[in-house]
Amino acid sequence: MNIYIGNDCHGRNWEEVAELLKHFGLSNASADDHRQAFENSYAVSFVYDGNEMIGIGRAISDGIFQAAIYNIAVTPRYHGLGIGRIIIEDLLGFVRHCNVILFTHPDKLEFYKHLGFRKMRTGLALYANEAKVEEMGFIE
Ligand SMILES: CC(C)(COP(=O)(O)OP(=O)(O)OC[C@H]1O[C@@H](n2cnc3c(N)ncnc32)[C@H](O)[C@@H]1OP(=O)(O)O)[C@@H](O)C(=O)NCCC(=O)NCCS
Repeated sequence: MNIYIGNDCHGRNWEEVAELLKHFGLSNASADDHRQAFENSYAVSFVYDGNEMIGIGRAISDGIFQAAIYNIAVTPRYHGLGIGRIIIEDLLGFVRHCNVILFTHPDKLEFYKHLGFRKMRTGLALYANEAKVEEMGFIE
């Protein structure tokens, strides 16, 4: 592997970003909405093997106290090769001085716990699409 990490939004293929997130059922949003979300984020990670984008992630933050990680995804062919860890550690390099939260699919809880995240006892959320998230079993 010839790994390169890009930490800005210049020249990214937003169609590929949208496809990757859609592939895992993480989002159906348009390429342009993802572009805006990444551009408005505090830190972004785009991981490449040569010219191929193989993983992405982003963190929003106030830069001082609080941060949240979103849109972590690795191309299926590259799963289990340490790319997910690279993305999380890269993003944490920008926000580890903050409290860092994230929410994920129940299947992925162990991945994040393995990387040091702890389950919150008092996390609450006001979702944009509450019915869908409730149906998915993510909220009580
Ligand atoms: C979750 C995901 C990002 C993990 O990426 P990955 O590149 O396969 O993971 P890595 O190879 O970097 O794994 C890092 C470590 O976590 C461990 N790990 C990976 N998946 C795990 C799991 N489901 N449960 C427990 N540990 C796990 C690995 O064994 C590895 O341990 P090590 O570094 O001590 O050897 C990837 O599976 C993915 O893109 N899934 C689909 C999208 C998704 O669900 N994203 C999360 C939504 S927020």
